[in-house]
Amino acid sequence: MALREDFLWGGATAANQCEGGYKDGGRGLANVDVAPHGKDRFPVLAGKMKMFECDDNHYYPSHEAIDMYHHYKEDIKLFAEMGFKCYRLSIAWTRIFPTGLEEVPNEEGLKFYESLFDECLKYGIEPLVTICHFDVPMYLVEKYGAWRDRKLVELYVKYCEAIFTRFKGKVKYWLTFNEINMILHLPFIGAGLYIEEGENEEQIKYQAAHHQLVASALATKLAKEINPEFKIGCMLAAGNTYSYTCHPNDVWKSIEKDRENYFFIDVQSRGEYPAYAIKELERKGINILIGEDDKKILKENTVDFISFSYYSSRLTSADPKVDAQTEGNVFATLKNPYLDSSEWGWQIDPLGLRITMNSLYDRYQKPLFIVENGLGAVDTPDENGYVNDYYRIDYLREHIKAMIDAVELDGVDLLGYTPWGCIDLVSAGTGEMKKRYGFIYVDKDNGGKGTLKRSKKKSFDWYKKVIASNGKDLD
Ligand code: BG6
Repeated sequence: MALREDFLWGGATAANQCEGGYKDGGRGLANVDVAPHGKDRFPVLAGKMKMFECDDNHYYPSHEAIDMYHHYKEDIKLFAEMGFKCYRLSIAWTRIFPTGLEEVPNEEGLKFYESLFDECLKYGIEPLVTICHFDVPMYLVEKYGAWRDRKLVELYVKYCEAIFTRFKGKVKYWLTFNEINMILHLPFIGAGLYIEEGENEEQIKYQAAHHQLVASALATKLAKEINPEFKIGCMLAAGNTYSYTCHPNDVWKSIEKDRENYFFIDVQSRGEYPAYAIKELERKGINILIGEDDKKILKENTVDFISFSYYSSRLTSADPKVDAQTEGNVFATLKNPYLDSSEWGWQIDPLGLRITMNSLYDRYQKPLFIVENGLGAVDTPDENGYVNDYYRIDYLREHIKAMIDAVELDGVDLLGYTPWGCIDLVSAGTGEMKKRYGFIYVDKDNGGKGTLKRSKKKSFDWYKKVIASNGKDLD
């Protein structure tokens, strides 16, 4: 079995990392807008420091980002030239409901996305929309403490109703929350949660996670009522956790680590809290307030497909003496002696993608969609402004091969592949511009300087060939 004929090749971005125009068209302020670039970003990421207002001493990369808000026609034209069948983007909640509390959606925000979707459809590009890619209106952060309050469920569903209704004829594929498991690791950037001194952090995070899970199920229900053709997916920051040795204690630790992530998808795909999670929450004394109908809502409204990001596998040991760590997608992991790393210390493991796909497919038996994958690297344009990013091509080639093996040799049902940051954009983890993933170079530096000019990298033509041959020509 080869890749399906209608395989959705494309690329992925998120509103707060590419759009800019953060006050344009009536847009409200979001949690992601108050995260500066530089050394102060991390305390915000850790949710340990309140920083609710922008000040003049910091640079906030989301405010302009790559200004896709004003360049989207040019950018989508370039995606079309590469042959994209699909473009994964996110809608900024604050463009539609600037504070989150308005009764009526902001027409200018809706019009912006309508025009963007029309632009995609003009080239036969299927939009894949993330409803919430880490962003929460700051107003809701301040008034309710974001997802810690059940009120957010109702407000999120209202937001979904507005976009489902308006875009029911233009968008078919939706993801309810980007990397839903990141709420445990990125509480502020990922979900607008801040933890006060002395509060029970885990209790707050799991209660907030429950609210997101219920919101996701209610959105799925509503989606089917509005358009039965809609396909709704969950989204996991994936990457299997390997055991450092064959010692059973290490193996057990790796199972526990994977469960921290599977927990969310187990609920979204199987429709109930898994037994191991119920026991673990009990042991930790975490008491989640579950609404009367919640169990029914979760059970009756499971997702249609499982989407995920994959950058690397992870590694764990039960032995505290084994502590050589390296960076990974948001949280650090043990260093795997068999793997090379990117300039940011993220380990490179193409076979790990096949392993992860098999685990997810075996566990859920639903179609998968790889909605993020890629290499963050420093690109240096030559004297003509051209970037020869052969290292990115190598990374992607090996991952695509592993992905095809999972389909052809293991029979995994895969809907598509949208590598991350198909056009250079702001890094979520560091706020940098120089950590680039794109096929398209954007002239802008870490301090915000640059012309914003777009140019094709070597990988642009390579990926075009890959798409045209449906993954057969990878040279
Ligand atoms: C994922 C996120 O965690 O990884 C993206 O969904 C993010 O928003 C991507 O940009 C890559 O991470 P980073 O930190 O290199 O931008």
